Amino acid sequence: MPKDDSRFMEAAADILSSSEMQKSKSHVQHGRVSVYSHSVAVAKYSVAFARKMRIKVDYRSLVRGALLHDFFLYDWHDDWDKLHGFKHPRIALENAKKLFDLNKKEREIIRKHMWPMTFINIPRCREAWLVCIIDKYCSMLETLKISSYNDL
Ligand SMILES: [Fe+2]
Ligand SMILES: [Fe+2]
Repeated sequence: MPKDDSRFMEAAADILSSSEMQKSKSHVQHGRVSVYSHSVAVAKYSVAFARKMRIKVDYRSLVRGALLHDFFLYDWHDDWDKLHGFKHPRIALENAKKLFDLNKKEREIIRKHMWPMTFINIPRCREAWLVCIIDKYCSMLETLKISSYNDL
């Protein structure tokens, strides 16, 4: 395992192995991509982008916040809710708080990732800005079927 993968897994293992996160493998995010794959992609792309741009980040909080940013735990295509986009950051945060001990940055990442849709919830730390941007980038790749992340 490359060195960075072991660092990633050290930060991510308990979240990835939780039964709730495992269930998100059966929830579709965009196209053929599950919420699980989307969340892992957002976490990996966020740390890769921070490294490439030499942005100083709290690595562990970035990984954990990114993995949990869509921890809403339902398939939003069932009973499609027009307000899912607005509501799910708060639902994800409530779910994540029940299972994991979240620090301030991790809570910020989850709660603010849909900005500017949730217009008053402006990201207030670098890690939350990164996830907010990379989430949109990954969502675009998924919606346009450019990637199904088989390489991750
Ligand atoms: Fe989201
Ligand atoms: Fe997302």
